[in-house]
Amino acid sequence: MSISQQYIDENKDKFVEELFELLRIPSISTDSTKKDEIKKAAGFLIEKLNELDLERVELFDTPGNPIVYGEHCPYDDRPTVLIYGHYDVQPSDPDDLWDTPPFEPTVKDGLIYARGASDDKGQAYTHLKALESYVKSGEPIPVNVKIILEGEEEIGSPNLVPFLEEHKAMLSCDMVLISDTAMFDKDTPSITYGLRGLAYMEVEVTGPNRDLHSGVYGGAVENPANVLCEMIAKLKDEDGVIQIPGFYDDVIELTGADREAYTKLPFDEEAYKKSLDVKALHGEKGYSTLERSSARPTLDVNGLWSGYQGEGAKTVLPSKAGAKISMRLVPDQHPKKIAELFAKHFKSLAPDTVKVEVREHHGGHASVTDLDFYGLKAGADAFEDIYGKPALFSREGGSIPIVADFKKVLGVESILMGFGLTSNAIHSPNENFSLKDFHRGIKTSARFLELLPEYS
Ligand code: BES
Ligand code: ZN
Repeated sequence: MSISQQYIDENKDKFVEELFELLRIPSISTDSTKKDEIKKAAGFLIEKLNELDLERVELFDTPGNPIVYGEHCPYDDRPTVLIYGHYDVQPSDPDDLWDTPPFEPTVKDGLIYARGASDDKGQAYTHLKALESYVKSGEPIPVNVKIILEGEEEIGSPNLVPFLEEHKAMLSCDMVLISDTAMFDKDTPSITYGLRGLAYMEVEVTGPNRDLHSGVYGGAVENPANVLCEMIAKLKDEDGVIQIPGFYDDVIELTGADREAYTKLPFDEEAYKKSLDVKALHGEKGYSTLERSSARPTLDVNGLWSGYQGEGAKTVLPSKAGAKISMRLVPDQHPKKIAELFAKHFKSLAPDTVKVEVREHHGGHASVTDLDFYGLKAGADAFEDIYGKPALFSREGGSIPIVADFKKVLGVESILMGFGLTSNAIHSPNENFSLKDFHRGIKTSARFLELLPEYS
């Protein structure tokens, strides 16, 4: 075993303690009252980068949350890897469904429970500790590295795209390395070569100018809650096909070979159902569960509100009803175009008894990595060396919109080497990350950096 790998074994507990410190900071990017926590998390990471004797460590302010940057590029003849991760997290709500406090990391049965444990603090931190394993054991970091850790991924990275454009020269690299996805399953490491894009909308339907007595007015005045449900129901047909005109126009259909590859993946549909406690699955007709959840576009209500939500019964006809609706996109759908098609179609569904407003939130493009890219091979081999099992290549349904921008602005492929699991409950109560995968993640990252020069 190399000295850096040995260092990782010897410092296992120290790494976990440090991660806990980071997990205790509620750096929630959607919550504007958490700006100080965001700063604190960024400051923590700067401090940790400063311990690595890199050539450059800098905190870049943006109109939003700061970007943590580091760089160590001593070689002319070796590849440059840009490590990307995010230190912001999703809100922890509903807090009462957590078994332990979301920002007090707790280990139970080998799992670290905390918001951000997997998405993405725990995963991103693996790379910092992999770098430390070289620096502190006296081995040189084997390739050039640049590190970028942002605080706005969960809100669509609004300030990172301008940052990439402005600092194109500083960020020039041969590839991006990201750990912010999941492995195929707990025994099967995988490299994610496709991610979906996103268009996120908010709609509001307004009926009468105030809430009304449902006995006095009910039956004579339109109920916006009823209307909203009817409108949403029309967005898909009974085969799960989205009814927005033009929605599928730019979708690149899966080839026969793509579909064949899907059938080879060791997916256990029964176990999947069981893990979710559902009797049956549901999705677009003609596609398998894996295809539906990673390579087909979707439309889903993410939030829905109207009328009385309190205890007991209040007889009221609400004045307003609203919904948040996300569409996951696939190549080559364009998020802006889809948002416009949605808005036009949704408004066309409204009866003239109500007013409808449609707003667009953040979005992003889907991405697919070129499977012939040499970096993927190095990633897969690093996984195999540490996990003792060959890595699969699979697509995932989540979104990391900046991946498409790395390609567009910097012209490079991203290697999505996730150490998470779908059971990590990211964005949900009781988010977790296994101690074992945190440790193996650090080792895999270090091994990847070691293998890379041989593959380029
Ligand atoms: N880490 C996730 C993305 C992810 C999760 C990819 C699981 C693959 C598998 C990321 O932090 C995330 O949640 N992204 C948002 C993007 C959005 C806010 C623009 C998402 O997918 O909802
Ligand atoms: Zn993430």
